Amino acid sequence: MANIFPKWTVTLPIKLIVCGGVLGGLVILGVTYYFTPKYSRVGYQPIQPIPFDHSLHVNQLGIDCRYCHQSVEVSANSSVPSVQTCMTCHSQIKKDSPKLEPLRAAWNGGKGDGPALRWVRIHEVPDFAYFNHAAHVNSGVSCVTCHGNVNHMGAVAQNQPQSMGWCLDCHRHPDVNIRPKDKVTDLDWKPASGESRASIGEQLIKEQKIDPPQNCGACHR
Ligand code: HEC
Ligand code: HEC
Ligand code: HEC
Ligand code: HEC
Ligand code: HEC
Repeated sequence: MANIFPKWTVTLPIKLIVCGGVLGGLVILGVTYYFTPKYSRVGYQPIQPIPFDHSLHVNQLGIDCRYCHQSVEVSANSSVPSVQTCMTCHSQIKKDSPKLEPLRAAWNGGKGDGPALRWVRIHEVPDFAYFNHAAHVNSGVSCVTCHGNVNHMGAVAQNQPQSMGWCLDCHRHPDVNIRPKDKVTDLDWKPASGESRASIGEQLIKEQKIDPPQNCGACHR
């Protein structure tokens, strides 16, 4: 009666520990990968059909974001400008620039029926999550909070992870991210000396009864 248990069972606990360790390690790896900027595409900077320079057009020429991204205050989606918006200037300015060839081709002498100018999309939330630009911009959240200093970028790169955790971080503590509405497209805005972003934000939150949702159904409809 010496062997009640077959011999292999003796090594079983060790195998379990080893397997458990490997599994645990894999889970940790997966989680780390999921939360690293690479996964969340921070830094993503595709090559565009025309090397459009925001720092030139916004900072040096002083064109407001809304001149080109017209729908950002009024609809769920921001939009990229039409060929016509660019041609307002570029039918005269730099009209023979080789860099603008794809623009002229799409414009096709004013008919607008040439090969489409397709900008490569950079920021995108998946379809199962609902995001609305106007709701944010009209509450005093600046473009700079979610897109970085686009006004100083040559080519636009993704600046924030736009993950669920990122959305919720702000929804829980919005104060430092709320500024007067008329400063939303003034990306370099700073509070007057003696005032802090948090105190200005707190006051606006009270006045406008701003209360970003945290329930699942607000973003997953
Ligand atoms: C003269 C027109 C013009 C102005 C003014 C302008 N943009 Fe843009 N913007 C574009 C074009 C064209 C693109 C698409 C090509 C690119 O990504 O550079 C773009 C792309 C972007 C993108 C990336 C879109 C994506 O695919 O995710 C962001 C973010 C953006 N602009 C923010 C801003 C902000 C913020 C301002 C104001 C500070 C601004 N833009 C002013 C023309 C403009
Ligand atoms: C309000 C006028 C205005 C609008 C609108 C505008 N631009 Fe410009 N753009 C300029 C000016 C001014 C320059 C600088 C010209 C210079 O360097 O002498 C310029 C320069 C450029 C250049 C560099 C050209 C070169 O050969 O160096 C590109 C590319 C360009 N713009 C693309 C665009 C695109 C694409 C749009 C539409 C999304 C657009 N621009 C809208 C005024 C404008
Ligand atoms: C609260 C964060 C937030 C703010 C504030 C914000 N954006 Fe966005 N933006 C996003 C997200 C998230 C996306 C991706 C949306 C999607 O996939 O539907 C995006 C996408 C864009 C795009 C690409 C749209 C397209 O159809 O290709 C442009 C352009 C843009 N934003 C411009 C702006 C401008 C200009 C402002 C300021 C007036 C601004 N955004 C303010 C979060 C923000
Ligand atoms: C920097 C701060 C900030 C970030 C980042 C942010 N939000 Fe918001 N969100 C707000 C504020 C402020 C409001 C307005 C609340 C109010 O007016 O009561 C809001 C409102 C909303 C609403 C309710 C309004 C509506 O359109 O139904 C939804 C949904 C929402 N946000 C989704 C998102 C999603 C999805 C993301 C991430 C992709 C995100 N938000 C990122 C600050 C933020
Ligand atoms: C403020 C907006 C917001 C709220 C509130 C929110 N989510 Fe999300 N959620 C998102 C966004 C944005 C994504 C997409 C993130 C990405 O692209 O990585 C997402 C992704 C997810 C995913 C998919 C994860 C994956 O593997 O890609 C699940 C599951 C999810 N959410 C469940 C929930 C549940 C459950 C709740 C309530 C406890 C909730 N969400 C509340 C914005 C939100």
